[in-house]
Amino acid sequence: GKGSTADYIEVDELEKVPLSEQKKWEKDQMSSAVFSFGSKDAVKKDEYELVLEDKIEFIQALPLLGTKNDKKQPELTEYQKKRLDIEETKKSLPVYPFKEDLIAAVRDHQVLIIEGETGSGKTTQIPQYLHEAGFTDGGKKIGCTQPRRVAAMSVAARVAQEMNVKLGNEVGYAIRFEDCTSERTIIKYMTDGTLHREFLSEPDLLSYSVMIIDEAHERTLHTDILFGLVKDIARFRSDLKLLISSATLDAQKFSQFFDDAPIFRIPGRRFPVDIYYTKAPEADYVDACVISVLQIHATQPLGDILVFLTGQEEIETCQESLADRMRRLGSKVKELIILPVYANLPSEMQSKIFEPTPPGARKVILATNIAETSVTIDNIIYVIDPGFAKQNHFNSRTGMESLMVVPISKASANQRAGRAGRVAAGKCFRLYTAWAYKHELEENTIPEIQRINLGNAVLMLKALGINDVVRFDFLDPPPHETLVLALEQLYAIGALNHHGELTKLGRRMAEFPVDPMMAKMLLASEEYKCSEEVVTISAMLSVNGAIFYRPKDKIIHADTARKNFNHIGGDHLSLLNVYNQWRDSDFSTQWCYENFIQYRSLRRARDVREQLVGLMQRVEIEMVSNPTETDNIKKAITAGYFYHIARLSKGGSYKTVKHNQSVTIHPNSALFEELPRWLLYHELVFTTKEFMRQVIEIQSKWLLEVAPHYYKQKELEDSTNTKMPKTIGRSTRTE
Ligand code: CDP
Ligand code: MG
Repeated sequence: GKGSTADYIEVDELEKVPLSEQKKWEKDQMSSAVFSFGSKDAVKKDEYELVLEDKIEFIQALPLLGTKNDKKQPELTEYQKKRLDIEETKKSLPVYPFKEDLIAAVRDHQVLIIEGETGSGKTTQIPQYLHEAGFTDGGKKIGCTQPRRVAAMSVAARVAQEMNVKLGNEVGYAIRFEDCTSERTIIKYMTDGTLHREFLSEPDLLSYSVMIIDEAHERTLHTDILFGLVKDIARFRSDLKLLISSATLDAQKFSQFFDDAPIFRIPGRRFPVDIYYTKAPEADYVDACVISVLQIHATQPLGDILVFLTGQEEIETCQESLADRMRRLGSKVKELIILPVYANLPSEMQSKIFEPTPPGARKVILATNIAETSVTIDNIIYVIDPGFAKQNHFNSRTGMESLMVVPISKASANQRAGRAGRVAAGKCFRLYTAWAYKHELEENTIPEIQRINLGNAVLMLKALGINDVVRFDFLDPPPHETLVLALEQLYAIGALNHHGELTKLGRRMAEFPVDPMMAKMLLASEEYKCSEEVVTISAMLSVNGAIFYRPKDKIIHADTARKNFNHIGGDHLSLLNVYNQWRDSDFSTQWCYENFIQYRSLRRARDVREQLVGLMQRVEIEMVSNPTETDNIKKAITAGYFYHIARLSKGGSYKTVKHNQSVTIHPNSALFEELPRWLLYHELVFTTKEFMRQVIEIQSKWLLEVAPHYYKQKELEDSTNTKMPKTIGRSTRTE
């Protein structure tokens, strides 16, 4: 591996060790390479013991070798002291020496694949180079897609700062439900989903001179579909430049897809990263992260830490626990600045993660896999990788989609480790065994298009006039049955006719940047005369972030407050309650505080709601309010989500109607103790089992009313004679 550009030297020692010998091997490795804490910077012995109440032992594997530019490693503290001015920073990026070559290559070729390691300046610099080179002359825009909204927002903010303009003017961003651009915008960052939608209003992307499909290696559903769409457009818009930019080695594959487009490689810069594994699997990886952070903080030289967790909830748990233990340590240890990064992080907090760490302190960033490639944070020396990520999974046999925490791939693990070697030699602590890495992780992450529900994607393609979706030019085609199922579902929902053509209803549904089921529910609210309520519910369901606030020291108060919003009809109606009471408080912050509600989430719901109201007007649906007609509200919801129905079976468990899959009401639900006979769920989340999150009680006869072509009377007859413990359940919850 020396001198090669390969990410890692293979841990080939492992290869030689047969399975049965694994334990012994790990033991041998241990004795020679136990990760020892003890450096000049470490705290004194007794304090050290205090920090490491329960220390995790790591064993060291082979380091990732630096390939380029590792002649001289900067002293870290010196690096921290140095606050380079913007011009200097720009010039220091790996892409900078290639500026002229890059511009020339874009001039010479219509499609260019760009490959360069994360942090080399692809996202922030290339649009600026092309702007300087005149590609925005005549008011044309340079577009750049990002798979993640936080990345789109933070990169736009950074570029606006570098160009010394106000965000939203020359440089702006657009994400779902939020457009921060203006007439003057010439560099526009957006999520891939947003560009996908832009095709509806501007099918030839005429206002753009350059389109950059960035972070192509992430292979999100929207990015994958964009590949096919932009490839098609480039054929008849010879003046449009297309850049496909990727952090990893998929460049060859992209090149082939784009008719052998040339690849422009930006040589990386990387320092060696030592990899450590745990001796044994960790039972609670969040806790193990906390311990590892403290371990590093107490014993390792300064340098920031990046921890990969799977979601906001986990991040908050970790943050609280870390803060708590740091408080207990008091002034015995150096300052530790704890910062979270996740998809719904409020924008005012995003800039914090990029601020330089004050001298003598250490920053620890608790991030989702956003920080794997999308967002680069300077100064990371230590990476802690528990080896998990949250993923959407769709089972085309059962038609069930659920969110679950799954092990990451080797490619992801290596990207994560690489984040430690950007500015100096680093260390990556994997909270799994070397054995697990070698034998249990897949090589690569499966592209999203091959593992999620395609209802939305197919509707969008149909709306763009692409009728034969099966023959669409996919980089990697989705499974045939998933496509067929999407077509069937769109037919059942009334978006397609029996020829597979878009109906008038389908066309209206495509106007909404939400999944087809939600769009259908919004449209159905017209008939049931409750558009105001359904729009509110949709907005609340679209927020993603937590609505309820549950601080550890006030759990009882918080839960009581939450129960006060509970509606016996179900969670959708409880959410409606929350929003309407907040509205009646004149959108008060104080009200949120008193009721343990996350103000930020509600503020976002209000923004989303406003946009939805605008779209309702666009499809000419009158906004009418009937808050007490809960059956009508529920019928409108059922009209959209009639696939998501479960019925009570023996022993208080639930089975989905069509596929007889076991599902359980989420403990947070207002209906957790109710056990109604028929339930509609908004989504499934898999943790220990399939949990239905956000449920309402419905009547089975409504299913025949809203989806007569999908349900037959016979399926809906009650086969059970289960007694409903309803009254008991209800009376226990009223105190
Ligand atoms: O796209 P690529 O991964 O190649 O790099 P980039 O995102 O353009 O990042 C280039 C540099 O800009 C890195 O040093 C980042 O830390 C910095 N950056 C920043 O300071 N603030 C941001 N919001 C985004 C990037
Ligand atoms: Mg980038």
